[in-house]
Amino acid sequence: MATQHQVKTRQFSTHIDIPAEKRAELIEMLNQSLADTLDLYTQVKQAHWNVKGTDFYQLHILFDEIAGEVEPFVDLLAERATLLGGYATGTARMAAENSALPEYPTEAVEGLQHLNALIERFGLYCGRIRQAIDDSDHLGDPSTADLYTEISRVVDKRLWFLEAHVQKLV
Ligand SMILES: [Fe+2]
Repeated sequence: MATQHQVKTRQFSTHIDIPAEKRAELIEMLNQSLADTLDLYTQVKQAHWNVKGTDFYQLHILFDEIAGEVEPFVDLLAERATLLGGYATGTARMAAENSALPEYPTEAVEGLQHLNALIERFGLYCGRIRQAIDDSDHLGDPSTADLYTEISRVVDKRLWFLEAHVQKLV
């Protein structure tokens, strides 16, 4: 069986006009984001299912709306990796192994605990996506940068929706 590194760096022939070394870096970055995004998506669903308290209904609905916006990015990132000649590493196990996000806190019960857990994770995720915009630009792939920009706009906005529940004047 191929090692994880061999699987991750697998490349297929393509006529796309981005040099193989740059594509390798782009594919690695996209697979990293794929893992982060699958993890984030399931964590938002976890909050959707398990939230309790007086704000249950509005948070239950909000978390599902957010999950519904994050989920399509999983497919877009995976397909960007494969169209660049790469191999998408997108099973739940692969995502769990590769994700840079902390695991969801099982102690979270009340709405505020779920909000704080998601705010922390969205903050991290938004930063990683913003970095990926720059990195794809430097690797000479404006289309990947554009995909990351699209994701960035959505998740920044959703971070605001989460944070507005707890924001204080500074
Ligand atoms: Fe549901």
